[in-house]
Parts: sequence; C-alpha cells; structure tokens
Amino acid sequence: MALSRQVLDDIRARVDIVDLIGSYVTLKRAGASYKGLCPFHREKTPSFTVHPARQVFHCFGCGKGGDIFKFVMEHEGVQFMDAVRLLAQRAGVEVRFTEAERGEETRKDLLYTAHAEAAKFYNEVLLKHPSAKEARAYLKARDLGLEVIEQFGLGYAPGGFEVMERFAEKRGFSLEMLETAGLIAKNESGRRYDRFRERLMFPIRDLTGRVIAFSGRILGKDERAAKYLNSPETPLFRKSRALFAMDRARKAIIDAQTCILCEGQIDVIRCHTAGFTNAVAALGTALTEEHAALIKRHADRVVLVMDADSAGQNSALRSAEIFLGAELAVEIATLPTGEDPDSLISKQGPDAFRAVLEQARSVVDFQMDVLSTREDMKQEAGLRRVAAAVLETIRHSASEVQRAQMLREAAARLGLSEQTLRTELRRTARARPVSPPKNAPGPAAEPLPTPPPREERELLWLLVKHPEVMELIQRYLIPEHLSDQRCRALYVAICNHEERDDLLAAARNNGEACVQFAAEVIADERSLGDDTELQEKAARELVISVRRKGLEREIQSLTRQRASAPPEDQGRFTDEIATRKYELVALRQGWEKAALVLEI
Ligand code: CTP
Ligand code: MN
Repeated sequence: MALSRQVLDDIRARVDIVDLIGSYVTLKRAGASYKGLCPFHREKTPSFTVHPARQVFHCFGCGKGGDIFKFVMEHEGVQFMDAVRLLAQRAGVEVRFTEAERGEETRKDLLYTAHAEAAKFYNEVLLKHPSAKEARAYLKARDLGLEVIEQFGLGYAPGGFEVMERFAEKRGFSLEMLETAGLIAKNESGRRYDRFRERLMFPIRDLTGRVIAFSGRILGKDERAAKYLNSPETPLFRKSRALFAMDRARKAIIDAQTCILCEGQIDVIRCHTAGFTNAVAALGTALTEEHAALIKRHADRVVLVMDADSAGQNSALRSAEIFLGAELAVEIATLPTGEDPDSLISKQGPDAFRAVLEQARSVVDFQMDVLSTREDMKQEAGLRRVAAAVLETIRHSASEVQRAQMLREAAARLGLSEQTLRTELRRTARARPVSPPKNAPGPAAEPLPTPPPREERELLWLLVKHPEVMELIQRYLIPEHLSDQRCRALYVAICNHEERDDLLAAARNNGEACVQFAAEVIADERSLGDDTELQEKAARELVISVRRKGLEREIQSLTRQRASAPPEDQGRFTDEIATRKYELVALRQGWEKAALVLEI
C-alpha cells in the first residue's frame, strides 16, 4: 500500500538526519559533514559520514548509505512502512492514506485496524460500562490508576459470548477476519464465541506501537480458569518474538543500552510507573533467540529479574544462555523470596527495586551461587560437576571476549587456573560430537564432520555469488535461523559485508572446518548470471526451505519435549507445535502467503 507523498515530505521536513543519527551514534563535526563510528559494521576509525545539506548518510567502510528512512530500516531491522511509522511518531506526523489506497487495504492492514478498534472498544468498556465495575475496582485495589489505563491502553472484555459479533457488525468487519485475529474462536461444533470474556485486557504492541494481540487476565483469583489468556498466533502476532511494552521501552533501552527483562506484564507496568522505563517482558513463553535478537538491536546488556525459587533460577539460566548466544552482556537480579517486581515496588517503593537491580550478578557468579547450594565443591566429584555446568554456560557465548571474561571469573570462583578451564572447554567441545552412543558396540570410527544442510550451503553460495540478494534475504533470515554453526558464522560475516579474504579470516575464528567450508563456497563456480529475477527467485526459494527445515526441527524437538513434560505442561507444547504446523502450511502456499509468516 502506497502512502500519500505528503506524509513522507512532512516527515523529512521535521526530522533532521543529524539529530536522528546523532541519537544513536556519537557524531563529530568534520567540515560540512559529521563523522562517527559506523553502527553497521565493526570499525575503530570513523568512516561513517552524515551530510546535513543532502540529508543522507554513507559509510565508506561498509558501503551502507541512504536517507532517514533507510537508516531506520537498517538500524531497527524493519521494513520501509515500519520505518515510516517510527519516524512519523518521532516527528508527530499522522500517517494517512489516500481514499483510493484505503480501498486496497491488505489483509494484514485490516487485521491491524481490527486490533486497534478492538483495543479502543475494550478500553471504553473499562472506563465507562456498568459491566466493568468490578474490573475498575480490581485495578483500583491493585493501585493501577487512570494514568496507567491510558498509557498502556488497558481494557475490559465484558461477559457474554457474542459481544465481538456485534462489534464486527457495527464496524463492518467480517467474522472470519476477527477469527483470524483471534478475537473470536470456534468450538468443535463450529459455533463462534468470544475468546476473551470477563477479562482485563492488556494490548500487546509491536515496536511501532500498533496493537497486534491481547493478553487477558481474569479478575481476582478464580482457580478454574487460566490466569492469563493470550491471543493465538496470527499473521501479526508471534509469541516467540513479542515483548510486552517494547514500544514504550525502546528509547530508554537505547539510552541506557540496557534492557530489564521481567516475567509478568503487570511487573513491567509497575516498573514503568516507578521510573524503570526500560523494562519489558515475554508473554508467558520461554525466552527465544528471536527475543534476544530484538533486544540486541537496541542494547548491549540485559538484566534478568527473576523469582528467588528454583524454577526461577533454572529459567534465568536458560534465558541467560540465549542472551549469551546473541552477544549480549547478561546480569541476573534476584528478588526477595515471594516477591515480584510489582509487589516489591508496591510494598517497598522504587528504591527497593533499584537495590535489587544494583545487586545483579554476572551469569557465572549467579550460577556458582546456585550450584554451590546444590553441590559440595569440597568433594572432587562435586567440583567437577560444577565446573562442567559453568563451562556449558560459557560455551553458549558467541563472543570470544565474553568467553575469556567468563573463564576468568569462573577460574577465580572454582579455585582452578584459567588454563585448566580453557583446556577443559576445548576438550569437552571436541569430545561431545564424537562421543559414540553408550550402547554402540566396539570402538566407534572417527566420524567425518557432517556437512552443512544443502539449503544452507546453497544460501551462502548465492550470497557470495550474487550479493544483490542480500537485502531480500536479510529481511527474512537472522543467523539463528541457520542450523549449522559454520553457516551461521559465514552468514554473519557476509551480512557485515566482509570481502573474500575477510570472509576466510572470519571463518578462521570458527575453526578449521569452517575455513574449509568457506573456501569451498567461494570456489564454487556456478553462477546465475545477470538475471536478477532468477537470483531473487532462488533467494526466495532458499529462504523458504531454510525456514521450513527450521520449523521441522523445532516440531521434532517440541514433540520430544512434550513427551517428557509433566501433564499440565503438555498443552503448551501442543499449542507451540500447532503454531509451527500452521506456519509450515503457509510456507507451502507460495511466496505471497509465506512472506507474511516469514517477515522478521
Ligand atoms: N502468563 C501466561 N499465562 C498464564 C500465566 C502467566 O501467559 N496462564 C504470563 C503472563 O504474561 C504473565 C506472566 O506469565 O504476565 C507472569 O505470570 P505470573 O507471575 O503468574 O503473573 P503476574 O505477572 O505476577 O500477574 P499478577 O500480578 O496479576 O498475578
Ligand atoms: Mn504479580
């Protein structure tokens, strides 16, 4: 959908490129232009320039350049329309469409509109309707006032099973569309009913503040119903990458280069009202690599705020490993027993929470503290188990510097030398893939390293041969979508615009097998020629098959996890599996459909 030109012109008139980029990068005046360290590739001397007169930026190091829209697209990893929305917000310009364009609203746009209208509807019910009296009292009792209701757009879904049908009729939405949006559900006999009934509604928004889903909380403590009910996965909403309040927290996260990750949305709201505006939360799911990648785009550091119980400790460690894999510095803050950020701030005020944050420990420290209560480190066996567990965590870190730092810390706490730990890290890294299954008869033959999956190898070949497709591919694939370590490493290097020699150098950091593989890809002489259409077609096909294989792997692993999960958790796995199956179906329906699911 095209925008009316005026919107872009208005934004350009109000946003100065030096101000914009200057809020992310330290810029120094150099003659008629400004210089700074390029945010898109690693460099020590500034080759990134911003030209106020022409309102463009350009990096002589990596070649990236463009106008304010391009900068936001690159920096936030968003598409053009989202860049427009973000900049419009910044400039206080309203994003308007011309009449003709309105008629062409795509299905996704309609879903956005439906969510926006529903949020407004639930909010009005909460503020005014007699049926929301109890909800208003509940919020008041929890000290969530009008200001919070307004800032976070809270609402109330009234009782009854057909409220949303009437809502649809009044606003001219189809019932099918509201079903896709997850506001209306269908029972086994095909009867439609409102998914959310008698629940406090928390809108979930994307980075640009558009409502993409809801989380509904029952009032009080009804043991029969789930405390929170979320929208199902839809073309707008994927739980595995949504972070509650990310839209409101973004600026503070960038400013502090730190993100506070809580467990619950009420915790996040309380944090924001107490001045901790860089707090976000996942939505009742385990933290994913996609969450980590999103945070990494804004910050260098995450503080995990966790319950003191052992479930909280374990989940903190799992999340920490994912953050380490995204090259984020991680610290873990532990709450007093029985408290969450909301209860702590409510009872003891912001300073008590600030103290908790200030006492956040590094991952190694945290893990050592936890393990030393579970193991006897004076016994050799205990010490060995603790060392192995800590090394397992360190192994997740994607950064050499970070690994070195963690090894130093671990060595000090274990009373072992760094060298010992380093040797152990290397030994166990090698031992793992080679170790034969326990019941294998006889000595195992030395296995050759498995080659990368075909589609990942092809993808890298295509990127090396036809770098023009890079932009397309980057829109749909993050490194974590690739399963093979070597391919990931090369993909990152290529995205950073490494030249051939640098590509080999980057490969070298990831072991000999990776160098060999890189050389093989570079030497592959096949080419698609100058036919850009052909190149793009190949890129799209590879994006789809890489993502398809990934989904298949996830389904396999979730199915395994479900089999060993306690019965009360199995439902969650079933939901997660169903979502991925739904996505697999979409991937088979051609690019148009697939692209909706694939967008990062
Ligand atoms: N959650 C969920 N589904 C559930 C329970 C929890 O999606 N059945 C998610 C919600 O996003 C919730 C978070 O997990 O915010 C943390 O849950 P919990 O600690 O139980 O709730 P609180 O955030 O503390 O909410 P409240 O203070 O209202 O009890
Ligand atoms: Mn709570």
